[in-house]
Amino acid sequence: MSVILVVGMQWGDEAKGKIVDLLSEKADIVARFQGGPNAGHTVVIEDDEFVLHQIPSGILRGDKECVIGNGMIIDLRGLVEEMEQLRERGLQIEDNLVISEGAHLIMPYHRLLDGACEQLRGKRKIGTTKRGIGPTYADKVSYKGIRVCDLMDETVFARKLEFSLKEKNFLFRQFFRLKELEFKEIYEEFLNLRDKVRPYIRDTRALMREAVQEKKNILLEGAQGTMLDVDHGTYPYVTASNSSIGGVGAGLGIPPQKIDHVIGVAKAFTTRVGEGPLPTEERGKIGEILRDRGNEFGATTGRPRRCGYLDLVVLNHSCWLNGVDHLAITKLDVLDTLGKIRVCTHYEFEGEILHNVPVSTEIAERCRPVYEDLDGWSERTSGIKRYDELPDKAKEYLSFVSNGVGVPITIIGTGPGRSDAIVLESLFQK
Ligand code: GDP
Ligand code: IMO
Ligand code: MG
Repeated sequence: MSVILVVGMQWGDEAKGKIVDLLSEKADIVARFQGGPNAGHTVVIEDDEFVLHQIPSGILRGDKECVIGNGMIIDLRGLVEEMEQLRERGLQIEDNLVISEGAHLIMPYHRLLDGACEQLRGKRKIGTTKRGIGPTYADKVSYKGIRVCDLMDETVFARKLEFSLKEKNFLFRQFFRLKELEFKEIYEEFLNLRDKVRPYIRDTRALMREAVQEKKNILLEGAQGTMLDVDHGTYPYVTASNSSIGGVGAGLGIPPQKIDHVIGVAKAFTTRVGEGPLPTEERGKIGEILRDRGNEFGATTGRPRRCGYLDLVVLNHSCWLNGVDHLAITKLDVLDTLGKIRVCTHYEFEGEILHNVPVSTEIAERCRPVYEDLDGWSERTSGIKRYDELPDKAKEYLSFVSNGVGVPITIIGTGPGRSDAIVLESLFQK
C-alpha cells in the first residue's frame, strides 16, 4: 500500500490530471484536498478529451473511489453539471464519487464578489478565474462559511444564508452599486441541488482514516501549483488555498508522515495564466512557439498562458517545500523544435545573486533570470514510451534538470494521450 501525492511545481497546469490518470490505474482511492472549480485537469484517452474541474481525475477509470475532500470548496451547480456530463459520456460515478460534508460551499455572492473585487483592483487585478475562490476561503477563515453539512439541515442553512446575505447585500448595494441577491432564489436553488448530491455526501475524514489503516493505495490529486500556494507562492498573485503538501493534512485529515511518495509535476518549460511575477517569461517568438506547440490556453477560462523557459529556482523551491522524491517532467515534446534551450539557474537582483524565490513580489517582479544554454535535440519525441529511444540531447536536458534539483525524474510526458509517457518506476506496489 502507498499514499502518493501528485503536486504542481509551478503555477498550475503542469499536467497533473494526466499524471494522476496514469497513476490511478493501480490506485483504490483518488482524492482532492484543496481548491475548487478554478482547476481544469485534462485527460486524453485515445480520441476523447475530458476536462475535470471539481471531480478527481480518477473518476475516468470507472472503479476508483473519488473523494472531494473537506479542504475543497464546492460550486454545487458546477459539480452537478460535471456529474451529468460524465454520466452522459457513459462513466460510472454512482458508486465512486464521495463528497465531504465538511467542504465549504461557493455561494452566488462569492462569485459576484470575486468579479467585483477584480474590477476594483483595475490594473492591479490578480487575474482570478472568477469562480469565487478567494471570497469563499475568506468566509471560511472568518467563520462565515456555509458547509455541505449545513445544507443538510434547512434551518441551519437558512440562518447562515440569511446572515451572509445581510453583509454581502450591504456591500453590493452601498459599495459596489450592484443589484442585491434574493434569499429565496438562492435558498430554493440550493435545496434543489442538495437533492442531487445527497447520496454522495459522507464524512471523508473517517473514510480516509479507514483507507490508510486498511493499507489501500491512495492517490492525492493536488490542484493549482506550489507557486500559487497562498503561503509559499507569489502573494498576492496566488490562489486562496495551500496548494502544496501543507494542504493535505488540513484538506483530507491524513497525517503528514503517512504520505509515502511525493511526485512533483513540472512542465519542461514554464507557464502561468493570470497576473504576477514570471521571471523567465518570453514575450517574443519563443513564448509564441511554446504556446502554439503546447496548446497553452487555460483549461478553465480559455485564456492564453504566459510562457517561458524552465526556472530551476522555482523548481528547487517547490521540490524542497513539498519533500518531492520523484519528478514528473511533462510536455518534453513541446521543446522538440528549439535549437537552443535555456534553463534559469539563478536570479540577479540589483547586482546580487539569488538562489531562492524572493518573498517580496516587488523584488520577484524585478529579478533577472540567469540562464545556462543547452543544445536542443531537433527531433520528434512525441509519443516516445521508452527512455532509451529519446535523443541524447533530450536525455542531457533531463539530467541537467534532475541534477539541478537533486531529485530523480520518474515520469516523462511526451504527448497529451494517456500512453504518451515514459514511466521509469512504478510507485504503487500492487
Ligand atoms: P493540469 O491542470 O495540471 O491537470 O494541466 P492542464 O490539463 O490544465 O494542462 C495540461 C495540458 O497539456 C493539457 O491540455 C494536456 O492534455 C496537455 N498535456 C499533458 N501532458 C502532455 C505532454 O506530455 N505533452 C503535450 N504536448 N501535452 C501534454
Ligand atoms: P490547475 O489545477 C493555473 C490562477 C488564476 C489566478 C490565480 C487566482 O488546473 O492547475 P483563483 O480563481 O484561484 O482565485 O485565481 O490562480 N489559477 C490557476 N492557474 N491552473 C490552475 O489550476 C489555477 N487555479 C487558479 O489564473 O492567477
Ligand atoms: Mg489546469
